[in-house]
Amino acid sequence: MTERSLQRAREADVEELSEIDMELFGEEGFSESTFRRELRVGTCFVIRQDDLILGYAHVRSDDGIHDLMRLGVRAHVQAQGLGRALLRAARKELPGKMMLLVRKVNRGARRLYESEGFSVEGTLNDSWLMVG
Ligand SMILES: CC(C)(COP(=O)(O)OP(=O)(O)OC[C@H]1O[C@@H](n2cnc3c(N)ncnc32)[C@H](O)[C@@H]1OP(=O)(O)O)[C@@H](O)C(=O)NCCC(=O)NCCS
Repeated sequence: MTERSLQRAREADVEELSEIDMELFGEEGFSESTFRRELRVGTCFVIRQDDLILGYAHVRSDDGIHDLMRLGVRAHVQAQGLGRALLRAARKELPGKMMLLVRKVNRGARRLYESEGFSVEGTLNDSWLMVG
């Protein structure tokens, strides 16, 4: 088994990214074409091992404000620190204010964001708007 490595996603990754996103987010998962478009306008980090993407963080940046659009880790490797590592890598590469929406029911993710310095600044439907 090779080492886990953190890299930028490439166009060839869109199929796999979409497959994981649909597994994690169901109907709200990004399609391949959405990921293809997103990769052109944003920055997507992946953690890869043995040619398999284990997790990803996708950020769109506009006017110095970064929007964390996606953070996902495959189910079988969750709770091993990958989500935190992806978030930290994104923040390091993209310094400045970052915002995100997290479902109110997603308490685990909210805990992660709070422990990385984000706080709740508002609500949007069934989600918290967090800024850090
Ligand atoms: C949320 C997610 C990205 C976290 O990634 P991960 O690799 O599993 O998380 P990590 O191992 O890096 O854990 C970081 C922290 O998150 C919190 N956390 C994550 N999942 C949790 C859970 N199910 N219950 C409680 N806390 C949780 C903990 O505070 C944890 O810190 P600790 O290990 O020091 O206690 C991942 O679980 C995931 O992909 N979930 C499904 C998709 C999703 O909800 N994405 C976020 C959308 S906003």
